[in-house]
Amino acid sequence: MSDKATLEINGKKYEFPIVTGSENEVAIDIKNLRGDTGGVITIDPGYKNTGSCESAITFLDGEKGILRYRGYSIEELAEKADFLEVAYLLIFGELPTQDELNKFHSDIKKHAVVDDDVKKILDAFPKSAHPMGVLASLTSALTAFNPSSVNVDSEEEMYNAIVRILGKFPILVAWTMRKKHGMPLDYGSSSLGYVENILQMMFKRPDEDYTQNKILVNALDKLLILHADHEQNCSTSTVRITGSSHAGLFVSLSAGISALWGPLHGGANQAVLEMLEAIKEDGGDTKKYMAKAKDKDDPFRLMGFGHRVYKNFDPRAKIIKKAADEVLGDLGVEDPILDIAKGLEKEALEDSYFVDRKLYPNVDFYSGIIYRAMGIPTEMFTVMFALGRLPGWISQWREMRMRKEPIGRPRQLYTGETQRPFKEISKR
Ligand code: CMC
Repeated sequence: MSDKATLEINGKKYEFPIVTGSENEVAIDIKNLRGDTGGVITIDPGYKNTGSCESAITFLDGEKGILRYRGYSIEELAEKADFLEVAYLLIFGELPTQDELNKFHSDIKKHAVVDDDVKKILDAFPKSAHPMGVLASLTSALTAFNPSSVNVDSEEEMYNAIVRILGKFPILVAWTMRKKHGMPLDYGSSSLGYVENILQMMFKRPDEDYTQNKILVNALDKLLILHADHEQNCSTSTVRITGSSHAGLFVSLSAGISALWGPLHGGANQAVLEMLEAIKEDGGDTKKYMAKAKDKDDPFRLMGFGHRVYKNFDPRAKIIKKAADEVLGDLGVEDPILDIAKGLEKEALEDSYFVDRKLYPNVDFYSGIIYRAMGIPTEMFTVMFALGRLPGWISQWREMRMRKEPIGRPRQLYTGETQRPFKEISKR
């Protein structure tokens, strides 16, 4: 393949370098397009064809259904690693040795406390507040209690900021849920594993000890790993672009949480469960909802279906579907919602509308069913996604700052009015 791409505009030819990634993906480097051509830009709404950065963290091939973190397949990581190992891998690039992992965990535990005044902020929210809004606010508020900005050129300062947020974030997650359900706020226990501690912080009742359930710990570990990174998706791009103005880590993460909230992104896991519930309430008529999803005059979409990048299958969905069967079986939960989900999936996979558009179940289609079986309230599903995505956001923010990327600032094609004279209010 040639190492240059040629673009012809008004009879004049311009050459741009072709760059390849480590998996032989091909990109045209148009960094000099505007300068060379005297102002021409590219238009790509939704960035469907635009690479915003070079990154060495996550590789995915949407056609082949491949997802790898730092070169390791998602299938192997979900099977053999735990969430904290995966977090370390994503952030620092290599799987930790046992000593490195022990130190990482112990440093995180040192920061697993938040200023008691954070409770006052939490108290000011009505119980009806959506947990994602609360989590975004509290994450941003952490900046007020940890005001020193991180010197990104200092490995030590960067490391401290990372273990600090990994220690504090699960507390915010747990408190967000406990506040909504009128449960007293508490801290976890430093004697527990990272994921065990999350479960205890979320579910411990004030009047009894919390007994760990291995099935729940394994299920949550796996779900968090599967959500841990997904290259330049909407929330991750938000984190990178926010941080590109040299805004701090915590506020950049808060921006990412807000982006994740939308139902086309992480909010889909809540929307899927609400959709499945609605279908159940409506007599379980999946065909009716399939017809609605295909009707262009109906805004209804089959939530948990389709993906911007995966056009074959979402490897995470495959793992989660299997896990849903196992977890519900192990917990002895029979959930008619799972049957509705399987029915919908079967119909969609045989329907030309979905087949032609390459719409397959995504990570969110089955995850809510597991969360529900674990006793996690529906409104918390996207918060659990945020908890899983945290190491991905951190690693992408760190990479962006370490590579000294310029401030993110897209261009536009202006389609508004051309210059016109101001009209006095009496003449309008
Ligand atoms: N139900 C019905 N039709 C759909 C769906 C769906 N879930 N998804 C896409 N389509 C149709 C869409 O109407 C369009 O049809 P046409 O070509 O006739 O106009 C075609 O498929 C392409 O859709 P698109 O919206 O142009 O595709 P996109 O890449 O911009 O959107 C998506 C991707 C994930 C936003 C979209 O598939 C969707 O809205 N899915 C439902 C929400 C969802 O499950 N989101 C979670 C994504 S995975 C978790 C995460 O990473 O956040």
